[in-house]
Amino acid sequence: MSNETGSQACYQTIPEALLTAHRDELTALPLTLLDPNLPLPADVQGYLFVIAPAGSVTSNGLPYDDGTPLFNGDGMVYRLDFTQPETVTVTTRLTKTPDFYADLATKPGTEYAEHGFQNHGISRYTNSLGFRNQPNTAFVPFRFAADDRDRLLVTSDAGRPYEIDTATLDLVTPIGSNREWQPEATKLSPFLPVLSTAHPYFDAEKKEFITVNYGRSIASFLEMIPALEEAEKLPEDLLKWLEEIARLIHLEALVKFLAQWASKLSLELLHLFFKLLGELSGVSTEDFVYLIRWDGQGDLERWRLMLPDGSPLGISQGLHQIGVTRNHIILIETAFVVGMAEVLNHPFPKDQNLEKLLRRLLAKAPSSTSRVYLIRRADLVKGQYPTRSQEEVKITVQPTEFPMEVLHFAANYDDSDGNVTLHVGHWCAGDASEWVRPYDVLAANHDTPIPARLDGMHIRGTDIGRLSRYVIQPETGEILEAKTILNDPATWGVALYTFRDALPTQQPAHQIKTVYWYSEGVFPELLTQFDINLFKDYRYRFVPIETLIERAKTGEGKPTCLLRLDTDTMTIVDAYAFACGTEQGSSSFVVNSPQFMPRSGAGDDPTDGYIACTVFVENRSEVWLFDGQNLGKGPVCKLGHPGLVFGSSLHTVWLPEVGPRTATYGVPVRQDYERLVKKKTEDWPEIEALFEHDIYPHVP
Ligand SMILES: [Fe+2]
Repeated sequence: MSNETGSQACYQTIPEALLTAHRDELTALPLTLLDPNLPLPADVQGYLFVIAPAGSVTSNGLPYDDGTPLFNGDGMVYRLDFTQPETVTVTTRLTKTPDFYADLATKPGTEYAEHGFQNHGISRYTNSLGFRNQPNTAFVPFRFAADDRDRLLVTSDAGRPYEIDTATLDLVTPIGSNREWQPEATKLSPFLPVLSTAHPYFDAEKKEFITVNYGRSIASFLEMIPALEEAEKLPEDLLKWLEEIARLIHLEALVKFLAQWASKLSLELLHLFFKLLGELSGVSTEDFVYLIRWDGQGDLERWRLMLPDGSPLGISQGLHQIGVTRNHIILIETAFVVGMAEVLNHPFPKDQNLEKLLRRLLAKAPSSTSRVYLIRRADLVKGQYPTRSQEEVKITVQPTEFPMEVLHFAANYDDSDGNVTLHVGHWCAGDASEWVRPYDVLAANHDTPIPARLDGMHIRGTDIGRLSRYVIQPETGEILEAKTILNDPATWGVALYTFRDALPTQQPAHQIKTVYWYSEGVFPELLTQFDINLFKDYRYRFVPIETLIERAKTGEGKPTCLLRLDTDTMTIVDAYAFACGTEQGSSSFVVNSPQFMPRSGAGDDPTDGYIACTVFVENRSEVWLFDGQNLGKGPVCKLGHPGLVFGSSLHTVWLPEVGPRTATYGVPVRQDYERLVKKKTEDWPEIEALFEHDIYPHVP
């Protein structure tokens, strides 16, 4: 593997740039070529889109000053224009949902400040208005038969996807109205908690958009408390937690109920509390998962997913990504928890002592195996249209599972041999929705707090990652073939991928032969004692936890890497390791957000293009290009500008062209919220005026 450090020790520290983001919106800012020896390639083309969380309306960008996780924030879309000769410009816009304008109108100091949103872990919530939908995670390009060019969605795990205009970058419409998405709790607020996947799928062959909508039952919230026996030893603290939850969602009746029974904390009381909580907030008594299909014009069509024993399918973690083949749909439970559970887990954003206690009580390592559910597309005959009928249409999934956690995966669209082939990245022994807290201490030295600048940074896996190819018989769930590899350092924290066939070519990825992954490396200063305790008994551990801690004591880590995987042979055929620091505390490089960009005139060769990625060093956030056929030789071009300051970026997309949206689909915002606003004005009459003056005028 090529790198910039040779065989020297690898001292890893998180660069300031990864933790820093500005919120100002840029228009056609020309970027600078950062290395005069690396000119812009003449055959680079099209538009590169990157998305990243950029703080909230009250934070002035990133970092937060209160330890809020960086992933909780408005999305900022960055569009780099590679269509002009010898110059690249960048335009940026925040993803402004209706609740973004509500957030703006309720900032401290405004007329409606009492309704202001607060951060609860990775959710942003207020009891009168509800949950923020912050599309800040990923893009989905799509193009129905009537469309003249590619269209684009921005997404997150907790909220409806929104279409953006690729010319202006403005949000245009959500996909599906509030009536068509089932929230986790129906009675809470105008901005309802909706859970979906950050990676819906557009089937370019069948011209179908496919996504999911799920929610947890009230019983599953009780399961959040894994250490019930310990909880019973802490009645006062636990009661305070329950009381805060009740106040948070404005259920005074529940507070009274608790006061009455405070001296008798028991499992029965907890069950009763959650039962009442469910009834008053409208949380379902059953877990639910809907598969949603959309034809680009009409209403959403959906099916309720059931297990073979007739019980409803439930998702206890998350569904960060789904996979689609010609004949099947694949859901994998991912180690990323969002939604109501986040708010219930973090009801006291300002009280660190209680937060600390609650984390100890409630923290639970994600499942070390991946639960997989296969759906036959032939079963999706005539679904329920929630706009027209309350009658559910049910279909049965085929469950299976394989070892280790999954964040991202892709499926070969071609399943003509009767089997489903998955390409999977295992991000191991960690919880991707967890972050560093101000009270965390280093695993390498329990007396030393984690550096304060890292508060809110998401944690890394505590074991080396793996790359796998699975072949599954979809009718039985049998895993016919499993080929798994690892490479030290290249697969430490394999995170996001890109590949040629994922481009919007109006053809799905029939056979995925080449996948580019980036890996997060190892940063000893992010290794917390809490995570070591939570993950030390990881079932599939490859690197002993003692080895990790011993290395951390010396300050040594593992570099971040970019790699190319040949999926036929399951070998890493090309890789580049980014530079580490050469002594303790010196700066290292971090890579995020890889994107394949085909060369102008390129054919079908899955390596004939550039790999763009975001790179962070010291206080600079940059965009580098690599030759897709030779990562090892290092970057071929580096771009940046002091005015372009983005933090921990997430997903990307490449589009050959952009232009004003001409499609007519749209969910009118007033019609979408009227019913929900009316319900809330019984408690707070001023909410109607807030929507009239501060929300409706801003969004169509
Ligand atoms: Fe993702």
